[in-house]
Amino acid sequence: MAPGCGHPGWQRGGLFLDSRVRGNDGERTVYRITETYSELTLSMSANDPEGRPWTRRRLLEAGTAALQRRRIEPAQRQAAWMLAEVLGCTHAQLLAYGEQPVPEAAVAVFEAMLARRLRGEPLQYILGHTDFFGLRLRVTPAVLIPRPETEQVVEAALEAVEGVARPRILDVGTGSGCIALALKHVRPEAAVWACDVSPEALALAAENAAALGLEVTVLAADVLAPDVVDRVPADLDLLISNPPYIPDAEAATLEREVRDYEPALALFSGDDPLRFYRRLVAVAPRLLRPGGWLVLETHADFGEAVAALARTALDEVQVRRDLAGRHRIVVARRPGGGGG
Ligand SMILES: C[S@@+](CC[C@H](N)C(=O)[O-])C[C@H]1O[C@@H](n2cnc3c(N)ncnc32)[C@H](O)[C@@H]1O
Repeated sequence: MAPGCGHPGWQRGGLFLDSRVRGNDGERTVYRITETYSELTLSMSANDPEGRPWTRRRLLEAGTAALQRRRIEPAQRQAAWMLAEVLGCTHAQLLAYGEQPVPEAAVAVFEAMLARRLRGEPLQYILGHTDFFGLRLRVTPAVLIPRPETEQVVEAALEAVEGVARPRILDVGTGSGCIALALKHVRPEAAVWACDVSPEALALAAENAAALGLEVTVLAADVLAPDVVDRVPADLDLLISNPPYIPDAEAATLEREVRDYEPALALFSGDDPLRFYRRLVAVAPRLLRPGGWLVLETHADFGEAVAALARTALDEVQVRRDLAGRHRIVVARRPGGGGG
């Protein structure tokens, strides 16, 4: 086939490798990816542009180029995550054995994953998992993808209960179970409960707990319901929550990946951005033992407002910054209990 000509086999779908272009030095190979946006089906074909079976390296290059064209970065890392997932290998093995051929079925699966990513679906939903506080968690579109800043909320909570023997902990709005599971992992002797209103989230949190061998009690409870204090354990050393905190009015400003793919129930707080915080601060004195801690993740714009709310019912209120320097964590303590 003449250089620059598209292989008919690649042109069935909306995205195809249409040529192989040699650089001036004759060694660099560049794959040009052509995309038709109307119908985003990919068609990489079983073979590479020269009719040879795809190798790991060439498939990685092709996937990276497709992501780069959509400005989905870091493109190479994301393509590597998907290809390593398909092949069941590590990233190191992917690179070390780059000349290994990739079976046709695996090419098709990689292609399907790439198409989802090009449409904007978050990588973690495509892979079906994410890492949080050193734990591998399954994630589905029924739950929020745990964020790195939430790891800092876990750190703040661990610090708060450091000196407490066998702490009793409740995580409100557990989603994937990330906070509850991270706390149980670090403090295995703790009694940990995790609640949510979403049955799908509760099922996933329970599945993650079982997969990790971590004993966390998963409960259906609506924190906004008037009887919530009767439905969840009391006498807690730690009440922790990353509740929905995005005002509905901000929906249009969210990244499409978040707005279109993550669950609205996990994101939005309605008209009142402090809705969940008012409730959590109101129930905290009844659920916490004297000296127990409330630890909350907040919207960066409302850290101070949440702290002001907390001061109405609790002591030792602090607002902490996340890794980006934004006020995102509020820590407060129920008075009494002899200090410490
Ligand atoms: C921002 S997500 C946090 C998920 C997880 N804890 C994390 O940090 O990734 C908020 C969670 O609160 C749950 N939720 C929403 N409304 C609730 C309510 N009224 N009572 C309890 N949980 C609620 C959602 O289903 C969602 O799982």
